[in-house]
This record gives sequence, structure tokens and C-alpha cells, in this order.
Amino acid sequence: MVISRISLLLVLWVVCRSQVKSLTSQFEVNAESSAHQNPACAPAIRNHIISHLALLQSDQDEFMSDELPPFLVPRPPGSSQLSKVRKHIKSNLKALNWTVEADISKQFTVLGFIRFANIIATQNTAAKKHVVLACHYDSKLFPLGFVGAMGSAVPCAMLVNLAKKFNPIFQRMNSDTTIQLVFFDGEEALLFRSAFDSLYGSRNLANVWGKKKDPHDSSQNYLQTVEAFILLDLIGIKDTHFKRFYKETDDLYTLAIDFETCLREMGMTERPESDPPLFEDQRRQAAIEDDHDPFLKKGVKNIMHLITSPFPSTWHTMKDNIDSMDITVIQDFNKIFSLFVTYVFLNAM
Ligand SMILES: *[C@@H]1O[C@H](CO)[C@@H](O)[C@H](O)[C@H]1NC(C)=O
Repeated sequence: MVISRISLLLVLWVVCRSQVKSLTSQFEVNAESSAHQNPACAPAIRNHIISHLALLQSDQDEFMSDELPPFLVPRPPGSSQLSKVRKHIKSNLKALNWTVEADISKQFTVLGFIRFANIIATQNTAAKKHVVLACHYDSKLFPLGFVGAMGSAVPCAMLVNLAKKFNPIFQRMNSDTTIQLVFFDGEEALLFRSAFDSLYGSRNLANVWGKKKDPHDSSQNYLQTVEAFILLDLIGIKDTHFKRFYKETDDLYTLAIDFETCLREMGMTERPESDPPLFEDQRRQAAIEDDHDPFLKKGVKNIMHLITSPFPSTWHTMKDNIDSMDITVIQDFNKIFSLFVTYVFLNAM
């Protein structure tokens, strides 16, 4: 046991020394917990966690003080506040040298013509395939003053945060797959939710991508280059939890469970062990309509819908604000999700 602990520490030191200083104290924790290894915490996952966790160390205060506030304003489609949020997203991702595009459409709505603008930020446009990580950055017009913290200021801030924190890893990657962030406009109904009054941005982008040729292979369209489509919604309250939705992504979902299990076992999550996991090992039979639907209808199969269901009581109320957010949930999700994304899609070992 002593020998294996020493050799584990040695491996950890080699893996980590390039990036990690502040993690030294946590080595002890890792070595201790290796005594009772959970099969979900395989050495590869464990090593990945250790070598990349340091990138999230500064997260504790920054997320709440810097990343989240720009999103926490009423920002209905077509408003000047939404345009400010859009500029914020674009400038942050441009600063990382990502390719940032807008998908603009003027659509007839229940409130007349409105201009919608999805934002698409691609880390490496030379890659042949892309993993879409998406949220919607508009907020519901009513009730007036609604800021939609869990839906979806927190999810969008999480995606910007992930890009900023993990950009050094993304840049070093030589993978055929790139990360692409999509911020949808007009997810919410302007008045009453219906097929016509909702999903304005995502319906448009699914159409545009269906007609756009894959720049690397003109025999297929751009939708066919989507390796996975992961949509974040209703995240941030204490009772945040996800379920399995689509069978096509069962294996991916299982890996997310593994990451959470492993982080917990290593003592690296913020929430107490008695709290239920964020990634529940349960299937939800009925799908929930959201921005992935227009893509699903056009044949995008590998969809992960990370949304709390049944919907929390604060959903679409003024209580969906900063006061109902749970920092430990946010931090745990940031860790699990970013480690999962870099491990699964970018072989960032
Ligand atoms: C972005 O590109 C510029 C010019 O090549 C470079 O000076 C800068 O360091 C890059 N920034 C990042 C975050 O990679």
C-alpha cells in the first residue's frame, strides 16, 4: 500500500507539475482515496481530473463576481439589454481567438417583426467535426423584470467560463473535433408558448445548417458534422438534477455520471456527500421541448439535454434570480461538465 501510494504520488506529480501549484495539498486526498477505488473512477478519468482541475481553481469567486452578473439582466429578444449581453459574449470569445459568427434572422412573431441573433463561437474552424454546447441567452419578456437566473443566465455564463478557463487546453488539442458554443436567441415565448411562439433562434439555425454544406465534405450538410449536441438549461438551484433523455447518448451520460462519482470520491466536490448527485441515473421517458428540437427533427441524434425536470417551482417566476442560486451546485457542475467535455471530446489527456 505504501509503495502504491508513493508511485501514485509520483505519477500525479509528473502529470501535474506543468500546471499545478495550488493543488499540492489535494494530492494527499487523492492518494488516500485510491485505497478503495470505485470502478467509475478508472485511472484515466482520475488522472484527467487531477491534471485539469487546477484550471478551475480560481472559479470560487470569479464565477459569481465576474462571469454571471453580465447575464443577470432582463434581456428579451430585440432589446438593447440583450444586445449588450450579445456584445459581452462575443468580445469574451473573440478575446480567446475563437471564430465568432452571428446567425441573424428577422422573423414575424406574435409581437410583429423581431430581429433574432444566435451567436456561434467555434474554437477551431479547421476541425472536421464539432460538439455543440448550447444555451439560450434571451430572457422571457414577462413577468416584466424577469432575469431568468437558472433559465438561462447561469448555463450561458457557464459556457463562457468553460471557454475561458479551458482555452489553453483547447488550443493545444490536435483533434478532428472542435468545441462550438451556440447561444440561442428567442427560446422563450414572447406571449404564450406554442410551436409558433418559441424557439425562434434554434428553428432558424437548424434550417440554415441544414442548407449549409460541410466545408470539408460537400456531399453532406453542416448538421451532419455535429458530433454531439449538448443543451444546458435550468441549472443553478440547489435542487438541480439531470436525467437520461436520449438513448443515443446513454454512454456519454454514463461518463458524466462517472466524472461526478469520481470527483466526489476524490473529495473534490463542494456539495456534501449526502446530497443527491446532479447526474441522476434515471431515464426520463417524455422529452422536454427545447432548443435541441429543431435539430433533432432534422436528424441530429446525439443529443444530451441537461435540464432540471420536473421544472422547479421558481421556473418563469421573479424568484428565478440570484438569491435562489446555489454556488456549490454551480461549482460542482462547472467541474464535472468541463472535465467531462475535455475528456470525452478532445482526448485531453
Ligand atoms: C490571439 O492571437 C493573437 C495574434 O496571433 C495573439 O497575440 C494572442 O496571444 C492570442 N490570444 C489567445 C488568448 O490565444
